[in-house]
Amino acid sequence: MSGPDLSVDLGGIALRNPVLTASGTFGYGTELAPFLDLRRLGGIVTKSLTLEPRSGNLPRRIAETQGGMLNAIGLENVGVDAFLREKLPALHPDVVVVASVFGTEVEQYAEVCERLSTSTRVAGVEINASCPHVKSGGIEFGQNPRLLADLVRGVRRATSRPLLVKLSPNVTSIAEMATVCEGEGADALSLINTLQALDVDVETRRPVLRNVLGGLSGPAIRPVALRMVWQASRAVSIPICGIGGIMNAEDALKFLICGATAVQVGTASYLDPTAAGEIADGIAQWARRRGISRIADLVGTLEIPG
Ligand SMILES: Cc1cc2nc3c(=O)[nH]c(=O)nc-3n(C[C@H](O)[C@H](O)[C@H](O)COP(=O)(O)O)c2cc1C
Repeated sequence: MSGPDLSVDLGGIALRNPVLTASGTFGYGTELAPFLDLRRLGGIVTKSLTLEPRSGNLPRRIAETQGGMLNAIGLENVGVDAFLREKLPALHPDVVVVASVFGTEVEQYAEVCERLSTSTRVAGVEINASCPHVKSGGIEFGQNPRLLADLVRGVRRATSRPLLVKLSPNVTSIAEMATVCEGEGADALSLINTLQALDVDVETRRPVLRNVLGGLSGPAIRPVALRMVWQASRAVSIPICGIGGIMNAEDALKFLICGATAVQVGTASYLDPTAAGEIADGIAQWARRRGISRIADLVGTLEIPG
C-alpha cells in the first residue's frame, strides 16, 4: 500500500512534505546534515543572510525560560556571498533550500535577493521583516504596514523566485500585515517570529541577556502562533507557513488545521537535531492511521462549533 501524499505547494515551492526547519535554528543545513538526512524534510530555511557578514551581539545571547528560550543572537551570519560560495554547494542537490534574507534598508534586502536568484539551488527567499533585536531594520519593517509594503514591493521587483515574507508577532493586527504582503505580491507568509521578551536575574538585578531584550520561542508561544496563523489565513489567500513552538507531529498538525500549508520547526531542533525529521514521519503515520490520503486536504479544516 502506498503511503499518504504529503506533498504541498508553498507559494510555488514544491515540497515533498510540509516540514521545514526555521531560520536561525538550523544553521545553513550543513552543520546538522551529519545527524539528519535533510531529504526527509520538506526543506530547510537558512539563517538570515545579509549583504555583509555579521558577528551578531555579545554574549550572553541565549537563555532558557519556562517552556521556551530567549535569544538575541543579533543575526550573526557569513554573508550572502560566502553562503553561495561555501555553504550552498555543500548541501545535497535534492534538499530544498529557502534562503532567509535580512537587511536594514529595502535596497539591502533587494540586493541580497538578487544575488541569491543567481543560484538555481535557491528554491525561494524568505524575507525576515521581523527580527526584534537589532538596532535598526526588522522591527520597523515588521510593525509598520507602510514600511512593510515598501519592503515587499522592493524585494518583489528584485526577484522572480517564490517570495515568502516572515511576519512579526509583535503587532496589533496580524491580518492587516498579512493583507499588505499579499497586496504587494508575496507568494506566501511565514509566521511567527519570536515574541519580544525580557528575563531578569534577581541576584544581580540584570537582564539575563546582554542585549536586554530578546525573542521568546518554543512551546510557550505556540498558542499565540496558532491564533495568528488562523487569523492570517482568514485574511489572505496565499499559503502560510506556520511557526512557533512545534515540538512534535501533533503540534504541526494543529497548525495545518488552523490554515498553515506547511510548518517550520525551530527551538525543537536544539533539544533534538532530528526533531524535524521525526515530525515529518509522525505526520505521515497520523495520516495513514486516519485514512487521510492527501495531507493538503487537512489545511484550514478547523471546525468552529456553531
Ligand atoms: C537562536 C534563534 C535564532 C533565530 N534566528 C532567526 C533568524 O536569523 N531569522 C529569522 O527569521 N528567525 C530567526 N529565529 C526565529 C525562528 O526562526 C522562529 O521563527 C521562532 O524561533 C519560533 O519558532 P520556534 O518556537 O519553533 O523556535 C531564531 C530563533 C532562535 C531560537
